[in-house]
Amino acid sequence: MKTNLSSSVPSQLETDCLVVVVLDQSEKDQSKKDKPVATVESSDAAVREAAKDVISSGEVTGKMFETTLLHRPTGLKAKRLLLLGGGKAKTFSAAELRKLAGAAVHTLKSKSIRSFAFVVPETAIPSSQGLRAIVEGAFVGNFDPGYYKSDRKEKDQKIDAVTIVVPGNAPGDAKALDSAMQAGRIVAESQNFTRDLVNEPSNRMTPTMMAERAKKMAAEVGLNCETYGADKIKQLKMGAFWGVAQGSDEPPALIVLRYDPVGAADKVHLGLVGKAVTFDTGGISIKPADGMEKMKYDMAGGATMIGAMRAIALLKPKVKVTAIICATENMPSGKAQKPGDVQIAMSGKSIEIINTDAEGRLVLADGLSYARQLGCTHLVDAATLTGAVVVALGYVNAGIFASDDQMYERFANANKQAGEKMWRLPLDDEYKEVIKSNIADMVNSGGRYGGAISAAMFLKEFAEDTPWIHLDIAGTAWTEEAKPWIAKGPSGIALRSLVEFVKGWES
Ligand code: BES
Ligand code: MN
Ligand code: ZN
Repeated sequence: MKTNLSSSVPSQLETDCLVVVVLDQSEKDQSKKDKPVATVESSDAAVREAAKDVISSGEVTGKMFETTLLHRPTGLKAKRLLLLGGGKAKTFSAAELRKLAGAAVHTLKSKSIRSFAFVVPETAIPSSQGLRAIVEGAFVGNFDPGYYKSDRKEKDQKIDAVTIVVPGNAPGDAKALDSAMQAGRIVAESQNFTRDLVNEPSNRMTPTMMAERAKKMAAEVGLNCETYGADKIKQLKMGAFWGVAQGSDEPPALIVLRYDPVGAADKVHLGLVGKAVTFDTGGISIKPADGMEKMKYDMAGGATMIGAMRAIALLKPKVKVTAIICATENMPSGKAQKPGDVQIAMSGKSIEIINTDAEGRLVLADGLSYARQLGCTHLVDAATLTGAVVVALGYVNAGIFASDDQMYERFANANKQAGEKMWRLPLDDEYKEVIKSNIADMVNSGGRYGGAISAAMFLKEFAEDTPWIHLDIAGTAWTEEAKPWIAKGPSGIALRSLVEFVKGWES
């Protein structure tokens, strides 16, 4: 999708469709009888005039995602005018705007419109922030997961070009606006890169294929990428990772992406560790058939780290970052690990396998140890780790666990900037009780209650004293139902927060 920046007066812009936001100015305490007061988010009198009748008639209220399409609007050079409700003016933010841009894309592409111009709202949000949110939302909204539909070519409904209108911006602003637009584009295309990997079924995204995709991307953006197989995993004594990988005929892959810019401070080296189980059958503790097809997305954490590294390589923050992705299938077979088996992790700690379906924490355990061995000073992992986090937080918030409050504050700020929903869960020492083993240092499953927390407590044993954050994205990496701004399927959650977080360490 092409992106253009325009400083034109909206009514003077020639476009297939001009999109403007309409906000509801009514207050909560107003009596219900009162008509809501909707306002068009543009100071252009001609645009306001064109929308006047539909607003005064009460047809347009500014309700979130309300869409009203007017043809040949009087006084405008645009062929159409799309009035897009943005909800209450009081609570309107960049997060809403991002969603609205996605909703505009969905609405227009279903009508075979290929290009449009979106007017950056003039109130509430600084224009560079608004512009960036629109670019991100439009790219995310333009992703179509129907990869293997044979009529995809004919039916390919995608927006080709979007113009972002920042009316009458001063010439000095142009550079800042342009860089905001490029940044939005890089982050959103990286998010779609991740979604692309996650969307692929397991026969088309084996660990080896994932490693190849990472290599190809790295060559394109100038990252260092090394990929290793079973030999290296055994040589590094990654007994927990190998315990999972040993059951599959498909070879595992250990993917290492390095970003080491000149001028970065030596004392900070961020480590991003991702779970990439390309298919999780559960292993010998096999999962029920119902819904098992979804376990192709169990590599989303790893795919998120690969996509985040793409964005980092292109945005070039001055901070050293290494990503470690542990890719494998989790299969039952004659070679598979069995409940009761004991594995020795890379750190030397022993693990009694209670449930072979608790495999994500095993691959991450060794990924975290390896990141520490490579000198990472701060660790973040992302994983579709537990069904329990879905029980706790549903499909709305991802779970955050943090061993260090300062690091958490940094992440929470980045998270807010990125407009992604996450919620912190506890890591009290009391939870460690449930991962005690009779025969080894710990068990790999703490049972049902507080399952997301006991999984995090297990990982903490391997992050050791390195400040660490764990993101459990099991409920949020896959959008279960289509939303006005995003298709059903891979969401790319956490990537934007991770990129913001990394940028926050710039020296
Ligand atoms: N990949 C699953 C977690 C998952 C569940 C991801 C639902 C996405 C949606 C993970 O490997 C798993 O199987 N976890 C078990 C752990 C249990 C055996 C302790 C779970 O959550 O049931
Ligand atoms: Mn599992
Ligand atoms: Zn899993």
